[in-house]
Amino acid sequence: MQLTAFANSLVVLTLAIGTNAVSFRSEGFARVSRQDPHIGDIRTWGQLGCSADNQGVWTITTSELDLCHDFGITVKAVNLTDINDGCSFFAFSEAGCKGVRCAFGTGSGCGDAVDGVDSWGSFEFTCSTGA
Ligand SMILES: *[C@@H]1O[C@H](CO)[C@@H](O)[C@H](O)[C@H]1NC(C)=O
Repeated sequence: MQLTAFANSLVVLTLAIGTNAVSFRSEGFARVSRQDPHIGDIRTWGQLGCSADNQGVWTITTSELDLCHDFGITVKAVNLTDINDGCSFFAFSEAGCKGVRCAFGTGSGCGDAVDGVDSWGSFEFTCSTGA
């Protein structure tokens, strides 16, 4: 949630200084901009339980919607920390958004890789509205 608040404030800052032709970039948050608004964030862990082996936060912006994103690392647990209204988050048991597909909401809590899922291989965000 802290990272999200920071990212959102960067969007506001970018909007505020945009008209003055000031170039502003911040490593790790450079992708969130007026042209590419923030959609949602997930945190992943390398162990079940959303506690051990914290792998960090993935931030998804508008340009990354409706695209499959492979984790590329062994993800055993995932938590959707925030998402825009009208948008959905799906995790898949295989790379390439194949295998078991699970929908998560922000109230879903810890999404452990269980019930036929060995680990989470990929994910996708979609939005029904422009968001
Ligand atoms: C998952 O995200 C929700 C929504 O932000 C948060 O309330 C909850 O504490 C998170 N759980 C874990 C295990 O990180």
